[in-house]
Amino acid sequence: MQKNKVYIETYGCQMNLADTEIVRGILQNKGFDRTDSADDADIVLLNTCSIRENAEQRIYGRLGNFKNLKGSKPELVVGILGCMAERLRKNLVEEKSVVDLVVGPDEYRRLPELIEVAYNGDKGIGVKLSKTETYDDIIPHREDGLQAWLSVMRGCDKFCTFCVVPFTRGRERSRSLASIVDEVKQLAERGFKEITLLGQNVNSYRDNNSDFANLLAACAEVDRTMRIRYTTSHPQDLSDKLLITIAEHQNICNYIHLPVQSGSDRILELMNRTYTIDHYLKLIEKSRKNIPGVSFSTDIIAGFPTETYEDHVMTLDIMREVKYDGAYMFKYSPREGTKAYRMKDDVSEETKSNRLHEIIDLQQQISFEKNQELLGTDEVVLVEGLSRKSDEFYAGRTDTNKVVIFPKKNEIAQGSYVSVKINKATHATLFGNFVDIADVANDNLALIA
Ligand code: SAH
Ligand code: SF4
Ligand code: F3S
Repeated sequence: MQKNKVYIETYGCQMNLADTEIVRGILQNKGFDRTDSADDADIVLLNTCSIRENAEQRIYGRLGNFKNLKGSKPELVVGILGCMAERLRKNLVEEKSVVDLVVGPDEYRRLPELIEVAYNGDKGIGVKLSKTETYDDIIPHREDGLQAWLSVMRGCDKFCTFCVVPFTRGRERSRSLASIVDEVKQLAERGFKEITLLGQNVNSYRDNNSDFANLLAACAEVDRTMRIRYTTSHPQDLSDKLLITIAEHQNICNYIHLPVQSGSDRILELMNRTYTIDHYLKLIEKSRKNIPGVSFSTDIIAGFPTETYEDHVMTLDIMREVKYDGAYMFKYSPREGTKAYRMKDDVSEETKSNRLHEIIDLQQQISFEKNQELLGTDEVVLVEGLSRKSDEFYAGRTDTNKVVIFPKKNEIAQGSYVSVKINKATHATLFGNFVDIADVANDNLALIA
């Protein structure tokens, strides 16, 4: 009897999306098959996130569904991978009888063996964190496409006081530059047009004498028609060298995700973010000077312990000052084991909600205004495919990560670069008309973009 069809659902950040592809690579090497239907599966795996309480609640809800499925199919193996597996460990199998497998982010190599354990009726548990595991030699299983994620480092040593990641992902470690560049080459040969290099704090990437700027340059030089993105840069150690590297390479996108978290120095200190607003603003200024047209996005937390109305107003102030192109905005959620968990969660739910709404409203207004500035300009767009709303339109993105919708032209293939004149803009989307095919291998194009 063969029981080997695996169904995977992925939650959380891009790193989990990349890990799911590593897991697929590992399982495929051992002869497991993939299915896209849970009903059809022998093994259901949830690659989970612990970043906020509601992320975990969603998984518990999903486990309820799989409990029903298991009722009609008792031999089904249900596994939890990722950050929740690491955070809750064997409590998960003790508290949730439906769970047969608990495998943390550094133990995916053992999945085939642990699945065997579960087939034999035991619980398969692998939750050790590693100081060295980078899955360097595993070829992730990726569907063909234009866009790929690639983890260049794992773990985090920053210990921001609100954050569970250092506990779920362990210590910081980098993958070798040579193996990353090799993978980028393979992706270029397969026709991928955009690679996003991933790490919780890519600025601390290191492989012998190479730092993140060297890595970015090496990836950018593989194929000048391939866009290189990356996330996340911590504001403490974004170097001048990195800014210059971005400016010098036309295909390294002019887009920096630079999470500020709060506009108040007092809160930043309590968060252990290790920078001040003054330092942060100087970085923004320096980036804008070195990289003309650079766009910024950020992460913001509303309602961190002791946050006053004045602190909140400082957050609104920094948003107005920087004028971010986009932001990911969250209510503070206490996470057990973190330093902030021991502080009193003293901002009421209602106040958190109100502040978050004000932050979201302001960001929408800023994004709208920023996008209006692009009316009448020609933007270079990587064509990603049909628009979600209509087959008559194409959707693509600018180098600064803005979605552009324009009337479909049959002679233009997915994956080509075109120049589009913008004639309408909302806070989230740009609209325009096709002008010409864009020659992205030509450096002068940076002037148009
Ligand atoms: N390494 C990245 C962040 C990864 S987590 C960085 O340092 O920027 C993504 C975002 O989730 C964080 O930037 C933060 O804004 C948010 N976040 C993390 N822990 C949180 C918590 N306990 N409550 C609310 N938001 C949180
Ligand atoms: Fe979490 Fe801070 Fe590390 Fe980002 S840098 S993953 S917020 S501890
Ligand atoms: Fe979530 Fe883990 Fe990513 S907690 S945000 S999946 S690193």
